Amino acid sequence: MDRTAQLTARVTERGIAYDPPSAAPSAASLHVRAARVLAANWTGTSTVPSRNLYPHQWSWDSAFIAIGLRHLSPLRAQRELETLLAAQWGDGRVPHIVFSPSVPLDAYFPSPDFWRSSSAGRAAGAPRTVQTSGIVQPPVHALAAWLVHRADPGLSWARGFLARVYPRLAAWHRYLLRRRDLGGGGLVSVVHPWEQGMDNSPCWDGPLARVTPAPAHSFRRADLAHGAPTDRPTDLDYGRYVRLAADYRDRGYADDGGEFARADGGGEFAVEDPSFNALLIASEHALARVATELGAPGAGRHARAERLTAALVERLWDDASGMFLCRDLRGGPIRERSVSGLVPLLLPGLPREVSGALLSTLRGPHFAARTGLVPSYDLRGPAFEPNRYWRGPAWFNTAWLVERGLRAHGEKATAEDLRTAFLRTAGDSGFAEYVDPGTGEACGAPGFGWTAALTLDLLHDVDGAVETGEEGGDRR
Ligand code: SER
Repeated sequence: MDRTAQLTARVTERGIAYDPPSAAPSAASLHVRAARVLAANWTGTSTVPSRNLYPHQWSWDSAFIAIGLRHLSPLRAQRELETLLAAQWGDGRVPHIVFSPSVPLDAYFPSPDFWRSSSAGRAAGAPRTVQTSGIVQPPVHALAAWLVHRADPGLSWARGFLARVYPRLAAWHRYLLRRRDLGGGGLVSVVHPWEQGMDNSPCWDGPLARVTPAPAHSFRRADLAHGAPTDRPTDLDYGRYVRLAADYRDRGYADDGGEFARADGGGEFAVEDPSFNALLIASEHALARVATELGAPGAGRHARAERLTAALVERLWDDASGMFLCRDLRGGPIRERSVSGLVPLLLPGLPREVSGALLSTLRGPHFAARTGLVPSYDLRGPAFEPNRYWRGPAWFNTAWLVERGLRAHGEKATAEDLRTAFLRTAGDSGFAEYVDPGTGEACGAPGFGWTAALTLDLLHDVDGAVETGEEGGDRR
């Protein structure tokens, strides 16, 4: 038996049924290696992003992980999302971390005794039996739920998967749309850089400068025990993250709109971000499909997603830079180019001139990196650092989003180049958390959950334009 035939035979890797992709042996071995990462990171009910650096369940990580896991085990992919959604708060928020009680408190900071969700979050409806953080992360979950359902509709119907997750996903979106439109213009704001997911992006330097850092001696970082300090955010940034999170906690995690819209308010952080809102739009379209599948009307959700798209363009599009920019509710547009401003390419409903300009920007000098991946921040920007977390390195989740976006806009050749670069670098880097965009050198944690999961998705769903519009295409 040759190697491909051997791999094609069904094997079991730590209990995972192995279905190799219909591609070259290197793709098959990539599949096996990615499956091993996800097996090693599986806890029995969900998947940790990394055993050492992130030993709990993270919200947007789990959504991306479920998208890949559906190719290995649709059952595990469903459970991944169900476990996360079981920790949803009464007000609808899905917390950014669900803590595992079996992990020691000092393994990760900020730990459950910092967030104190079940006491500080009581008024907001935090669950009593599970400890969580009190902030959120990008809403990729409805999109993930729809893709997971589509991977094995028979299993999904048999387990009542969609019917169980739909009300929770609907409440999640309702929370964001009703409680987090802090700028009053129809878009959702994040109140902490960790909510947007790109923690130390140079985009936050301006708004964060207003925040008085918590004193260094008042907390102890756990991340530096597992990640190189040059790859991680600085102590000064951490002091500001801690201050913002502690202040939010001390307000009972209350979302007090209006307060942020006033230019003369205190030093709070409130930013409208293109990637966060684009992911909400994509997920709202997906939720419309879920509703239709369940026999409920979905057209209203598609219409809402279109209104959000119009607000995104109106409030965050910047013609001069050919991409979307973040908006600081106190300071106005943030004139830094980050990959966040390219993620809306995921939406096929963008006006043509906007998608055309995004494609040029992606191929231009600010983002065309030597590895073929997409840097997290402007290669020519004053704050660019090739190794430091979200200040330059290329990440695999954003590459996946841009790749799917390219396909949504019919840019097959560019998508194929990005897919090839993704698979090569993911494999060569040992499924690193992120890489230097010029050299592909691995940074952050090795064996990272979403890197492995999205490798599987690009291996198995080659042409998969994510369905983020109404049936029949919705290009204007
Ligand atoms: N990404 C953050 C961390 O580094 C928090 O979610 O811990």
